[in-house]
Amino acid sequence: MKSNDRRVFLKAGTTLGAAIFAAPAMGIVPTQSSAIATGNGKVTNLKHRTLGSGKHSLEVSALGLGCMGMSYHRSFVPDRKSMIALLRKAVEMGVTLFDTAEVYGPFINEELVGEALAPVRKDVLICSKFGFNIQNGQMAGLNSRPDHIRSVVEQSLKRLKTDHIDLLYQHRVDPQVPVEEVAGTVKNLIGEGKVRNFGLSEANMENIRKAHAVQPVTALQSEYSLMWRKPDEDVLQVCEELGIGFVPYSPLCRGYLSGFINERTKFIAENDNRATLPRYTPDAIKANWVMIDVLTEFGNHRGFTAAQVALAFLLAQKPWIVPIPGTTKQAHLQENLWSANIEFTADELKEITEKISKITVVGERYTGQAAQQVRN
Ligand SMILES: NC(=O)c1ccc[n+]([C@@H]2O[C@H](COP(=O)([O-])OP(=O)(O)OC[C@H]3O[C@@H](n4cnc5c(N)ncnc54)[C@H](OP(=O)(O)O)[C@@H]3O)[C@@H](O)[C@H]2O)c1
Repeated sequence: MKSNDRRVFLKAGTTLGAAIFAAPAMGIVPTQSSAIATGNGKVTNLKHRTLGSGKHSLEVSALGLGCMGMSYHRSFVPDRKSMIALLRKAVEMGVTLFDTAEVYGPFINEELVGEALAPVRKDVLICSKFGFNIQNGQMAGLNSRPDHIRSVVEQSLKRLKTDHIDLLYQHRVDPQVPVEEVAGTVKNLIGEGKVRNFGLSEANMENIRKAHAVQPVTALQSEYSLMWRKPDEDVLQVCEELGIGFVPYSPLCRGYLSGFINERTKFIAENDNRATLPRYTPDAIKANWVMIDVLTEFGNHRGFTAAQVALAFLLAQKPWIVPIPGTTKQAHLQENLWSANIEFTADELKEITEKISKITVVGERYTGQAAQQVRN
C-alpha cells in the first residue's frame, strides 16, 4: 500500500470504526479492516482476498464481477452504454477482479470490458481465457495449441485495450495438447510481459499438478455453488496443498440461487445455455426449490437475501475462494458484494451445511460435449 493510500485507509478506518458500534449484533459485520483504499484513491468497504501464492499471488476484491452475461448466454443483451456504466460503477464500489473470455459473444464481451475499464486500467485486474476454436461466430471445439494461444492473446489484448492480461486461464483442458505444453506457452507469454498470471478452468487434480510444476497456477476457475459442490471432494484439496486460489464460476447457479428463476421463466435459446441445461427445466426448478427455501428461511431471520447467503456460504469455505457472480444490474451487484460482510458463526455454518447437505439436486449441470469438456 502506498503511503498516500495508507492515509486514505486510516481515515476510512476511523469512519467505519464508528459504524461498528452502530452495527447490529449479528449479521453484517463492518470491521476496520474492511476499509480498503483502492488505487484510484477511493475508499470502499469491500474486503480483499489473495489468489495464489508467492510471486504469482494476486490481491483481489473478495468477490469479482463475471462479465459474460452482459453480452452472452443470459437471454437478453442489455444496452451497451448501461453495461459500461455498470462496469465503471463496480470499480467505484471496490471490485478489482473482472472476468471475461474470448468466446463470450464471441469477442464482444472482451470489447465491452476493454472499453469500460480502459480509463481505470491501472486500478483493476482483467482476466480472460483461451482454449476454443471459433468458426462463424460459434465455438468449434477445443484448441490449446501454442500457436493458437499466442494468436488469441494478441487479439484479446487488442479487444481489451491493454498491453497485458492479469490472469489468463485455459478455458478447458485440451486432450490433444499436454497441459505442460500449455503452461510452458503461458510461461513464455508471462516472460514477454503480455500475461501476468496463469489460471486453469475445470481442470482435474492431475492436470492442475502437471501445469503447476511448469508455471505456478494462480487460480482454478470452476463451477462451484450450493447446487454443485463436487470441487469439495478433490480440486479444492489440491488448491489448498499447492497454494492455488479458487474462483467459483456460476456461484449463484446461473441465477437460480437468487430465487428469481421459477418454472415460468423463459430462457431465450439463441442466447442462453440454460435453455438446454437439464437443471433449468421446469421440473428440475420445482424439484430443487427446497434449496431456495433453506436459503430464504436462513436469510429471513438475519436480513439477508437468498443470493447473499449462497455467496457468503462459498466465501466461508476458504479464505482463498473468490466468487465471480455475474449481473447486469447495479442493485444485484450491491447485494452480491454485501455478502463479503456476512460472517456466519460456527453454529450457523453447521446448521446451513447440514440442511443443504440433505438435499439431492435434480438435473445435470451440463450435457453432451459440454459435459465431456469439464473436470479433465
Ligand atoms: N470458466 C467457465 O467455464 C465459466 C462458465 C460460466 C461462467 N463463467 C464466468 O462466471 C461468471 C458468472 O457466472 P454465470 O453468469 O454463469 O452465473 P451466476 O453468476 O451464478 O448467475 C448470474 C445470473 O444471476 C442473476 N443474478 C445475479 N445476482 C443476482 C441477485 N442478487 N438477485 C437476482 N439475480 C441475480 C443475473 O441476472 P441479472 O443480470 O438480472 O442480475 C444472471 O442472470 C460469468 O460472468 C463468467 O465470467 C465462467
